[in-house]
Amino acid sequence: MSTLVIKNLHAEVDGKEILKGIDLKISEGETVAILGPNGHGKSTLLNVIMGHSKYVVTKGSIFFDDIDVLKLTTDERARLGLFLGMQNPSEIPGVINSDFLRAAVNAKSEKPISTYQFYKLLDRATKELKMPFDLATRSLNEGFSGGEKKRNEILQLMLLEPKIAMLDEIDSGLDVDAIQVVADVIREEQKKGRGFLVISHYARLFDLIQPTRAVVIVNGKVAIDGGPEYIKRIDQTGYEFIKTELGIEISKEENNMNTVSIGSCAVKESIK
Ligand SMILES: Nc1ncnc2c1ncn2[C@@H]1O[C@H](COP(=O)(O)OP(=O)(O)OP(=O)(O)O)[C@@H](O)[C@H]1O
Ligand SMILES: [Mg+2]
Repeated sequence: MSTLVIKNLHAEVDGKEILKGIDLKISEGETVAILGPNGHGKSTLLNVIMGHSKYVVTKGSIFFDDIDVLKLTTDERARLGLFLGMQNPSEIPGVINSDFLRAAVNAKSEKPISTYQFYKLLDRATKELKMPFDLATRSLNEGFSGGEKKRNEILQLMLLEPKIAMLDEIDSGLDVDAIQVVADVIREEQKKGRGFLVISHYARLFDLIQPTRAVVIVNGKVAIDGGPEYIKRIDQTGYEFIKTELGIEISKEENNMNTVSIGSCAVKESIK
């Protein structure tokens, strides 16, 4: 059973420190819910684990068993068994979705998959996801609806069979029925022993996939690493208890950011 171990991870983007000492451990077979206020570093963490070039790691380590993940390129990390379903998947005009998927499957296997085998796999996965097959034959994510893009991330997960799958707000943009379909697929993948790091702001998806732990990221650090009961608590009462009970101030910078975003909309005018 493989384990991903993150120790004292610091990372910055464009010279601004976002992750300020993350400690986190996840093994295959576990499902860890990641929560936290907007802008506190959740997506940054997953992107850093996957090796996104925008982020610079300034301190700390990430090991997958005895392998130093930070020394690997993104494709090497994928071959190791790490996977990221992105919060905002990119549109790549001109790259056919099925060609992309097949290239990714081949990059992970010792010998290339036959056309017949690949289409059998693709057909089964798209049916399970209740996804129109024509999405597989179009340009990658180009013109896909928000929900279609998210389903396509899960399609990649099904074909790539990672050891640890990281899903960044996979439920945003999915309609109620689609959340159920995606949760059914995640449950099947959980049975196969995959580990999941799942970011979401809502309890609905977590109710369906039953995480084993909840991790709350505040100010670029892990404020809570505890049982799944925190999910319900946060859903019902928000993050205030982190300040009142744990004495952790939710950083001013993020609060200011929220003020700015409210200030820039018409609501402020109507409140005046
Ligand atoms: N290029 C950049 N320059 C400065 N700050 C940046 C840059 N890119 C990202 N950030 C900031 O990094 C912080 C963390 O972003 P991140 O996407 O990790 O947040 P998050 O916890 O995933 O939030 P959400 O719940 O809204 O998805 C944010 O305040 C964001 O504005
Ligand atoms: Mg995010």
